[in-house]
Amino acid sequence: MPLVIDSLEQLPADLPATCRPQPMPNRLLMCPPTYFDVIDVKNPHMEGQIGRVDRAGAARQWQDVRSAFERAGARVELIDPEPGCEDMVFCANQTLAGLDATSSRVCLLSRMKHPSRQREVPAFARWFGAAGYRVVEMPRPVGFEGSGDAIWHPGRGLIWGGYGHRTQPEAYEAVAETFGVPVIRLKLLSDRFYHLDTCFCAIDEDTVLVNPRSLEPRGMEMIRAVFRRVVECPPDEADGGMACNATAIGGRHVVIQRGNERTVGALRELGYEVHEVDTAEFLRSGGSVFCMKMYVF
Ligand code: ARG
Repeated sequence: MPLVIDSLEQLPADLPATCRPQPMPNRLLMCPPTYFDVIDVKNPHMEGQIGRVDRAGAARQWQDVRSAFERAGARVELIDPEPGCEDMVFCANQTLAGLDATSSRVCLLSRMKHPSRQREVPAFARWFGAAGYRVVEMPRPVGFEGSGDAIWHPGRGLIWGGYGHRTQPEAYEAVAETFGVPVIRLKLLSDRFYHLDTCFCAIDEDTVLVNPRSLEPRGMEMIRAVFRRVVECPPDEADGGMACNATAIGGRHVVIQRGNERTVGALRELGYEVHEVDTAEFLRSGGSVFCMKMYVF
């Protein structure tokens, strides 16, 4: 039943158990960083970074992220980069891909905040169309930045939806309708955590890695009610090291920016296989491991 939830009082009992089971995707879509650059300031991480990207370094780091995904058991597919789309490497943002109420594959297109990023969306619409997805436009004239803000609960028909910087709260009624699932809406407090994927990483059905300081108390209450295990990321690692912008694969592997020692230690302690990679060139643009792929069902 599609439904948008904003507080513990509205949260149905027994989530996520009452949400439909669905596979955890192990296909990932990536975009080579051929034209990657920082040419403006779309988020605070980009301040002071214009013109500082090392393209050769970015290409090596991107390859390392791809290899780590493959070591973790994912199958990586590619979309062709387009000249003039300097942020296209962040392919979490242009769409939200998933399954609808009839288990058919559907791709909801984003309405991105920055005109320079709106240009990226048609290429993804073509890619998902060719891959057999039903491709739909966001039916409302509101901001929506795909899986940067709308994150599937692993293994369940349930979506966590961040808003406040790029995505507007009204987008989530349409997200709930499109996928036929409930959406739990979370307001983002800080512009350094401008997408939900910068402060919230769903690892498996029971476990989430989160930066509590960048979410409202009522958001944290819902997170604690639905996930049995909440791993709190140290604030310095969440910010400087983008530790929450990690990618979980198969509920067992986590690929994460290197140097986040306490976060990595906590995840290893819980039994996850952690793969550390260097995304320093992409951090200049405010993105890390999670942003560099789209889960493909
Ligand atoms: N420079 C990009 C932007 O500001 C980075 C996007 C990172 N993506 C993400 N899902 N957090 O739009």
